[in-house]
Order: sequence, then structure tokens, then C-alpha cells
Amino acid sequence: MSFDYKVADLSLHEAGRHQIRLAEHEMPGLMSLREEFGAAQPLKGARVAGSLHMTVQTAVLIETLTALGAEVRWASCNIYSTQDEAAAAVVVGKGTPEDPQGVPVFAWKGETLEEYWECTEQILTWPGGEGANMILDDGGDATMLVHKGRAWELAGAVPATDEEDSEEVGVFKELVRKTLKADPTKWTKVAEQIKGVTEETTTGVLRLYELAASGDLLFPAINVNDSVTKSKFDNKYGVRHSVIDGLNRATDVLIGGKVAVVAGFGDVGKGCAAALAGQGARVIVTEIDPICALQAAMEGYQVARLEDVLDIADIFVTTTGNFNIITAEHMVKMKNKAIVSNIGHFDNEIDMAGLARVPGVTKTQIKPQVHEWTFDNGNSIIVLSEGRLMNLGNATGHPSFVMSNSFANQTIAQIELFTKNDEYDKQVYVLPKHLDEKVARLHLDALGAKLTELTKAQAEYIGVDVAGPYKSEHYRY
Ligand code: NAI
Repeated sequence: MSFDYKVADLSLHEAGRHQIRLAEHEMPGLMSLREEFGAAQPLKGARVAGSLHMTVQTAVLIETLTALGAEVRWASCNIYSTQDEAAAAVVVGKGTPEDPQGVPVFAWKGETLEEYWECTEQILTWPGGEGANMILDDGGDATMLVHKGRAWELAGAVPATDEEDSEEVGVFKELVRKTLKADPTKWTKVAEQIKGVTEETTTGVLRLYELAASGDLLFPAINVNDSVTKSKFDNKYGVRHSVIDGLNRATDVLIGGKVAVVAGFGDVGKGCAAALAGQGARVIVTEIDPICALQAAMEGYQVARLEDVLDIADIFVTTTGNFNIITAEHMVKMKNKAIVSNIGHFDNEIDMAGLARVPGVTKTQIKPQVHEWTFDNGNSIIVLSEGRLMNLGNATGHPSFVMSNSFANQTIAQIELFTKNDEYDKQVYVLPKHLDEKVARLHLDALGAKLTELTKAQAEYIGVDVAGPYKSEHYRY
């Protein structure tokens, strides 16, 4: 078998395979879906274009999708998040580096922006003319490429790149221009074949609801993020683990006793604040939403405005999914050697372009993905992963067990959209509650958790079925 792929180094495959084997043990949700659906092959005929951090855990997801019959092409959804050994192991599969038998992956740690978008194009461009017919997205970049590509194709031109455009937008427009030059109807053809997308994260989901509201969504979408077993676990407990991992691997600074500012107290912010407090930091939260601000206060955190705490904080973590949270003006006023990091999906939470424009500022690489920016007054700040998500840029993202929850939802969502496609409109859906409960159930045994069973009378008393679902749709966990 020969296929195209682009990864850092196939000789890393053995190291990747060992890690994948251990991850499988920690991913009971995915492994039991392989057992349940392996024989039926519900994803036979699915050609999945995956754009999601190419980590060890994602390797287990990819190999679950192929075990269920899918063909897959994969790219990472961030330039720094690939674990090169995992990418190598997925490509090699059951073969050897000389004769790879696995899955085409286009991802390596430290891609340029140009390479990033070329890789995203690669997952949507299948050899032999047949395109992808499903997207599995994280942050919505693959979905955006199809939508913007088609819209600009129909408009007859890609809008000119102007001064307002960030470097990222400029690179993206150039990629679309190049693809349309090579094939003027490329994106219409790609879009026509796609049956649906399953989206992993808060930021990608936001983009999907916007497309649906304006009537521009080209295919049905399942919002995986808002399965309870995703956002209330991965975003919160996953981050609770990986934010510390990112800080430690990047700086190894003692967190206890320090002042840490967490911008945003949604699911990710709650996980960050808990982790930093657990290390003994004094946590300050910034919020715009009075409900989340009150929650933070009830947890015992100080709630303050960023402007008022710039000179006392040692560590900053942005978790808002919003932009311009930490500006250049803020960074100039920070304490000497303050650590500045973002764990939200995109890098625009911290104004890196503005930082580079501060008069007299210099940038020193301490090690990959860790940079010291020195101002002309002699003070410096340490910025992680160039403002991109630090838990994947400086560490290896969330641990397997929590990702098993997220990815079990992804797998079920792919099966749902692919096998029951005509039941879905061009809207955004969440998985039904009984499937959410199923994902949780799949993870209890491994933790030795014993679930109490309702009696029939108790079930009637609270108005549910003995077998679930156990909560109404409006229940907030
Ligand atoms: P969320 O919507 O639950 O929380 C975001 C919070 O930020 C909200 O409470 C909102 O009120 C607040 N916020 C918005 N603008 C703000 C501002 N200017 N100042 C202070 N607070 C502000 O979203 P969630 O699920 O916590 O996700 C946050 C981001 O993290 C998203 O971009 C998401 O895609 C990403 N994410 C990253 C993960 C990772 O592993 N790095 C894992 C899961 C999500």
C-alpha cells in the first residue's frame, strides 16, 4: 500500500506505538466502541477529514474510526500541538517505515502558517477524485476552509489581503487563491460531497452556530463540545491537569505562593483556577459575565479587572475564547518575569502582534515555545507557545482518560451523522442525553465506580425511566 503523508520522522513510530498502547488502556470509551461496533462497520464508506491536535490520544481516536470502517486523512488544528511520535505511529500502522500501512497524516510540531493551511487542504483533497465526505473538526478550520473557499469561488475572487488582515488571515487567503487557481471549482466539489461535521470545541461550535444562523451552513453539524461528558470533563478536568503540565514543562517555576490571574471563568477557566489554587497559588479571576464572576467569588477567588492586578500577578492564563484579552499595553505594565499564557483555542487572546510592535522590545528564545520579551526599562515577561494554547504547545494536552470521553462522543457523533444523514438538516445538533449518559457509563468501571440503580417506584417518583435519561434537557450539571 502506498499513500501520501507528511510527518516529521517515521522512525519515531515505535515510541509512538508504545504510548498509544498505554493510552488505549486509559481510553475505555473508545475501546468499548471498537468492541460494540467493530463487526457492524458503521463507518464503512465514510471518508473522514480530521483536523484535531495530532496527539497520542488522537491516534487512538483515528484508529477507532478506521476500526469502524472509515477511511481517514488527518491534520493537526494547531501548528505546535502535534506529537511527532504519535503522527509517525499512525502513518506506519501495522507496516514499517519503509512500507507504511496506516493512515495519511499531515502534521508535525512547529509547522509554519503556510504549511498548516496546506496540511488542512490535504485532508480535504483525496487522491482519485473522491473527496472527504465527513469532517471531524476542532476549532472549525477545516469547516471554514470549505465554506470560505466555496463562497470566494462563487464570488469569483478571493478578497484582497489588506492591512487589517492578520498574518494568519493573509496566509489563509493566499492558500485559497492558490487552490482556486489550480482548480477553479475545487471548493464547490469538496462541499457537495460532505455529509456533515462533528465539532470538538467551544470556539468551533460558536462559528457553526453563526453559520447556521445566517443560513450559510452547508451541511449538518453535531456540537460535540456541549455533550456534558465533553465540556464538563475535558474543558474542566482535562485543563485542570494540562495547564500545570504546560507551566511546569515551559518554566518549572514554583506555582505555590504566586499570584495567578485566570481570564474567564467558564469551563476551562474553572479547571485552570482549581489547578492553580491546588498548587497553592493565590488565584484572581477576571470575568464579564456576572454569573461566572459570582461563581468565582463563591469558590473563594478574588474577582478583579485585569488592569488592576497587572503589577501583582506572576502568572496569567487566558481562557476566554475571546480576543484582545491581554494587550501590549497590559504586558508592558506587568511585573518583571511574569509568565503570560493562553489556553483558549486561538492565539488572538494575547495581542502578540502588538507586543512585537512595542518600541525597543526584544525577543529571546529560552527554548522552543518559550520566549522572553524584554522591554526597554529592563523588565521582561515570559510568553508561552507564542500565545497559542500552552497545554498543547508546551506540554502534551489532556490525559487519555478524559479524552476518551470527548472522543467517544466524537465517534458516536460521526456514526450518527454518517448513518442517519437524512434525519439531519443544515443545523447544529447536540447528541441526545441517553448517548451522553452512555459515554459516562463506559468510563465508570475503569474507576471502580458503582452506580446505584433506581427502583421502579423511585423512577416513577422522580418521573424518569429506570434506564435513563435521568435529567431533563434544561438540567445544568
Ligand atoms: P466558556 O464559554 O465556558 O468560557 C469562556 C468564559 O470567558 C465565559 O465565562 C465568558 O463570560 C468569559 N469571557 C469572555 N470574554 C471575556 C473577557 N473579555 N474577559 C474575561 N472573561 C471573558 O468556554 P470554555 O469551554 O471555557 O472554552 C474557552 C476556550 O478554551 C475556547 O476557545 C475553547 O475552544 C478552548 N478550549 C481549549 C482547550 C484546551 O485544551 N486548550 C480545551 C477546551 C476548550
